[in-house]
Amino acid sequence: MPYIQRELLEKIMPAVVRLRADPVFFAEKVSGFRLNQAQRRLLLLSGRIRVRLAGRRFGKTALSALDLLHYALTHPGTRSLVVGPSLDQARVYFDYFRDWAESCPLVEYMIAEDRRSPFHEISFRNGSLITSRSVARGGRFVRGRGYHRITVTEASFVPDEVYYAALRPAVLQNPRAIIDFEGTPWSKSSYLYELFTRGTADGEYYSATRATTYEAPHISKEEIERVRSEVPDYYFQCEFLAEFPDSEDAVFPQSLVLSAVQDYSPAGQPFPGHLYTMGVDLAKIRDCTAIIILDVSEKPWKIAEFHRFRLRAYAEISDLIKALKARYRAKVLIDATGVGEAVAEAVPGAVHAVITKERKEEMVARLRLALETGSLLLPASELTLLEELKHFRRVGERMEGQAGFHDDCVMALALAVWGAGKGGGWSAWRAGIPAP
Ligand SMILES: Nc1ncnc2c1ncn2[C@@H]1O[C@H](COP(=O)(O)OP(=O)(O)OP(=O)(O)O)[C@@H](O)[C@H]1O
Ligand SMILES: [Mg+2]
Repeated sequence: MPYIQRELLEKIMPAVVRLRADPVFFAEKVSGFRLNQAQRRLLLLSGRIRVRLAGRRFGKTALSALDLLHYALTHPGTRSLVVGPSLDQARVYFDYFRDWAESCPLVEYMIAEDRRSPFHEISFRNGSLITSRSVARGGRFVRGRGYHRITVTEASFVPDEVYYAALRPAVLQNPRAIIDFEGTPWSKSSYLYELFTRGTADGEYYSATRATTYEAPHISKEEIERVRSEVPDYYFQCEFLAEFPDSEDAVFPQSLVLSAVQDYSPAGQPFPGHLYTMGVDLAKIRDCTAIIILDVSEKPWKIAEFHRFRLRAYAEISDLIKALKARYRAKVLIDATGVGEAVAEAVPGAVHAVITKERKEEMVARLRLALETGSLLLPASELTLLEELKHFRRVGERMEGQAGFHDDCVMALALAVWGAGKGGGWSAWRAGIPAP
């Protein structure tokens, strides 16, 4: 820990006073960013229950982390908590704190202890503490401890019951406690929408602010326009303009998806005695290739391995599928519609799944049923998959997004789930890993 000499301390004192009093000055000094009006508005949001919604890459995580760090350093002896759908997402805050400790001597000096396990936790010389938890198991890891401040990241992935039963009570006893939420919107039937609406109307106890990605100082408007021309309108409105969608035409409602989420990461390896199915959805024009291996030994099924990539030669993809198939002894279902046929050909024993419009309806219905009956657990760590489920909707007659927009993970998962069903049109069950 660096030792600060008295003369040096006297020299830097005026700056320290300003750092305490001026959160924007603090944020800019610590991060090296220049904040524009929109980012300042987000940073300076006050109130006890604060909702910060902004488009992708706007800087909501960085700004909330700066706000939280400023709070911990200027409020000695306080306990703050960062929560997210998984510990991994909460860790992003600590990555920021550690980066800033490297670039800013004052932050480095103030950190007394930095722990990474069993969860990330930083204690400061002034007796403050910032710790992290996930909202898994209905918020069990959040309950029972009072906090002065709670920051909720990726707030739309936090289930309503966790807010009402765990987060809200955790700050009840302390009349000055604060809860911050940051994220992009999801559904209007959610606690986040309720808080956002209250915050917009109230502005004191409840406060809320919203910014679009266009307002971010570090992202070019041309780049955003390019993205806009590539993605469906509903997606852009939600993810870049940070607007709650008006219609509820999502195939997988938010509450359904979140009820199936658990804080686990795919194991990434087969276990003796377990049975596996593998769904493969191959990249068409715009999306990616997704491979999902599902452990279907017992319910609830869990994802064992997850791959998603763009732009790879078909030979390379079929080699990967063959290697995974051999490793897991999985039943493999490959979307053999169009270009997929050639890849399916190259994998001996794979089920060639030709996905007609009717078959797709059935597959998606079966995936939905698996979620509704609690037969399938989704890993909180795989936000790409959760985001695809979030945006998977009917557009007119078709069930995917416009022209198959990013539904590769959903379809790979639907194939793996289909493979777990008995009978059902596509070939018989194949072997799993034999028990020792
Ligand atoms: N004013 C700024 N100047 C330069 N870079 C910035 C500024 N604000 C944010 N950034 C950078 O922009 C990137 C996105 O920031 P951050 O992850 O906080 O955004 P986000 O809104 O949480 O994104 P996501 O939607 O992916 O969760 C980061 O690399 C961050 O360091
Ligand atoms: Mg973020």
